[in-house]
Amino acid sequence: MQDLVSNTPTLDKVSTESPKEIAALRIWGRQPLSGNLPVSGAKNSALALMAGALLCPESCRLRNVPNLADIERMTQVLAALGVKLDRQGDALTMDASHLTTSQAPYELVSKLRASFFAIGSLVARLGTARVPLPGGCAIGARPVDLHVRGLQALGAHVRIEHGIVHVDVPGAGGKLKGAKIYLDYPSVGATETLMMAATLAEGETIIENAAQEPEVADLANFCRAMGAKIRGAGTNNITIVGVPKLHTADYSVIPDRIEAGTFLVMAAMTQSDLTISPIIPEHLTPVIAKLEEIGAKIVQDSPACLRVIPHALKATDIETLPYPGFPTDMQAQFTSLLSVCEGNSIITETVFENRMRHVAELVRMGADIRLKGSTAIIKGVHRLSGAPVMATDLRASAALVTAGLAAEGQTIVKGLHHMDRGYDDLEQKLRNIGAKIERFTEREVTKE
Ligand code: UD1
Repeated sequence: MQDLVSNTPTLDKVSTESPKEIAALRIWGRQPLSGNLPVSGAKNSALALMAGALLCPESCRLRNVPNLADIERMTQVLAALGVKLDRQGDALTMDASHLTTSQAPYELVSKLRASFFAIGSLVARLGTARVPLPGGCAIGARPVDLHVRGLQALGAHVRIEHGIVHVDVPGAGGKLKGAKIYLDYPSVGATETLMMAATLAEGETIIENAAQEPEVADLANFCRAMGAKIRGAGTNNITIVGVPKLHTADYSVIPDRIEAGTFLVMAAMTQSDLTISPIIPEHLTPVIAKLEEIGAKIVQDSPACLRVIPHALKATDIETLPYPGFPTDMQAQFTSLLSVCEGNSIITETVFENRMRHVAELVRMGADIRLKGSTAIIKGVHRLSGAPVMATDLRASAALVTAGLAAEGQTIVKGLHHMDRGYDDLEQKLRNIGAKIERFTEREVTKE
């Protein structure tokens, strides 16, 4: 609380300060790196597929599930809904035969935005759902209006009360009805929510201006393995013909194109000869195109393996866009990379409104970047120098670790809980190729 009269902090503000343990990574830069970086299953696919498992009244198994804090949180959300889960290595078995509630708990949904996407499968399966609004996050306000409007088009009654989205399908049996839905923006989450909702609806649903991301196609393939009728996923026009019921499936999650892209950038920025596998090269088309444009040498060692060969790099311009455009989830890593490429680069973020917070941290490491709104104007410098920096979101953490690997001296990346959300065992993977890094915890005074 601020004392508005004297404009000085009041005593209770001071007294809410408390010591807290925070995880950080110490990186000794410019170590020689070589070998293979293995790519885990895609976080964003796995999260959507876990929501998809709610559609099935039998047990399903997912393989190649990454070991991440976000997956653990989604596991907790599903468990709270009555799903029985069993994880053995990278396989996750989910039995949603007896859902005990249609109400997802606020404490969990507020920590993981993707868990909101379960609203589509819950309402399809049960005819009713209560899911808290996920709220904003570090990279922007992130509304859910497209999800809500799509569910209304499918015949659901939606009201938002006390921060909770109440969805009910009128009539006995509570069946959604197929409809034509045009999305104002090709939102990944809204496409996934509505595709899941439509799998059990009566009749045909067409989603126009749908998101084309590979994770949407992966979710459609998983739903198809369970008996859903879906055509066109991966294009901007998806048709779903509702079926009465889905059945068990055993399905493997696609490799994480953003983790793979991050590794490609790490190889290019550290001028290392590295291989990266398994990957699906088509999913990385915009990332590979930009790397080649700046001079990186990338060869395909085998169908699922790329090799980066050290080469001098020059500036370029990038604008983030929905797939197949350049991914917003690779913007921070490329900001790091372009900060040491010869010449002037411009990066414009168009997908999220607050996704440039890594810039100030890179500047602390010696980068020459000016920020104008969501545009970064970068003058390439010869080299970055290690410094203590703070990760402000998941991909910012990857950008800073990448910068630390290439920088002169020691970098300390704080805010590692962001990295743990989305990078499976990153430290060990990096140590295996020769990186010198150590995780430690420190006590920090935070204001609560
Ligand atoms: C997903 C990914 C995230 C990625 C993003 C864009 C998951 C778990 N996360 O997030 O890593 O960065 O796609 O590729 O898959 N929007 C609205 N109204 C809505 C929904 C979205 O205005 O109802 C806006 C968002 O605020 C944002 C833009 O649309 O500005 C794109 O968001 P969206 O594609 O929905 O991203 P997510 O699905 O949340």
